[in-house]
Amino acid sequence: MMKTIISRLLHSQSPPFLKPHCYRDSSLFAARIGRFLSTGSEKVDGSSKLEEAEREEFTPPREKLLVLGGNGFVGSHICIEALAHGLNVSSLSRSGKSSLHDPWANDIVWHQGDLLSPDSLGNALNGVTSVISCVGGFGSNSYMYDINGTANINAIRAASEQGVKRFVYISAADFGLVNYLLKGYFAGKRSTETELLDKFQHGGAILRPGFIHGTRRVGSVHLPLSIIGAPLEMVLRHAKPLTRLPLIGPLFIPPVNVTSVAKVAVRAAVDPAFPSGVVDVYGIRQYSQQNPA
Ligand SMILES: NC(=O)c1ccc[n+]([C@@H]2O[C@H](COP(=O)([O-])OP(=O)(O)OC[C@H]3O[C@@H](n4cnc5c(N)ncnc54)[C@H](OP(=O)(O)O)[C@@H]3O)[C@@H](O)[C@H]2O)c1
Repeated sequence: MMKTIISRLLHSQSPPFLKPHCYRDSSLFAARIGRFLSTGSEKVDGSSKLEEAEREEFTPPREKLLVLGGNGFVGSHICIEALAHGLNVSSLSRSGKSSLHDPWANDIVWHQGDLLSPDSLGNALNGVTSVISCVGGFGSNSYMYDINGTANINAIRAASEQGVKRFVYISAADFGLVNYLLKGYFAGKRSTETELLDKFQHGGAILRPGFIHGTRRVGSVHLPLSIIGAPLEMVLRHAKPLTRLPLIGPLFIPPVNVTSVAKVAVRAAVDPAFPSGVVDVYGIRQYSQQNPA
């Protein structure tokens, strides 16, 4: 009878503390189960095991995060943020193993692949629970559509087929007239967003920053973009009404720091309570200042 109840509990949507893989010692798991089933006065399997189980820290299963474009400007900050949260992190990009020589890069599993080849994700998705895509770029209109659109759409479809739970896409804010000049870029971004909301109705988050500032590496050179970005962010964050001006309004969208984008992206990737849908630059600022519950 007891065996049947335990077996049912294991195969139901049990709370994490009832999952055997969360315990390093199976006897501690048995003791915890015993306590769960006891009515208070009963003692199961001796009190010493039970006391040991009480002392044992609950270790939640580690989330496995794949960062697409983890060696880029935004992607590398996302990798650092995710490692700081104890996540198991991997990255995929065309160049594969990062050219970054910082110590944190040794804690990432680097995959090589081109998202424009649909099969490219291959093994990189094995066991992955969340994906954050930072893949995008500039060039001719057709290239911009491919890299901001097609490449990410391929990734979303593959992730959805593999049963990935959450997918976060680093998109971009609308820039009015600039949208017209960079048609392929924005058309690609919006096609990816549509696909994401379709395939990840629950667990799909789209971040739409404007200009992202921080320190960008170009080869061995460090570009301190915050010299311009930080003061602009300070001034423009109070100018939201100006963004509604026709044509020039989007020029007043405040820049946002790369660490804020990384913080919100990682939270959106692992927090089941994070809402699906679009987060604009003001939302990114707001979420980045909150401490998750
Ligand atoms: N930086 C900004 O101010 C800003 C503002 C708004 C939105 N965004 C968006 O944020 C995202 C990240 O921007 P970023 O500035 O970090 O760009 P980035 O530094 O150029 O990084 C792009 C990443 O994508 C990878 N990649 C490019 N093509 C690929 C492909 N076909 N397959 C696999 N990986 C590929 C690159 O690595 P490999 O070259 O090794 O493949 C790189 O890791 C982009 O989508 C961008 O549009 C950026």
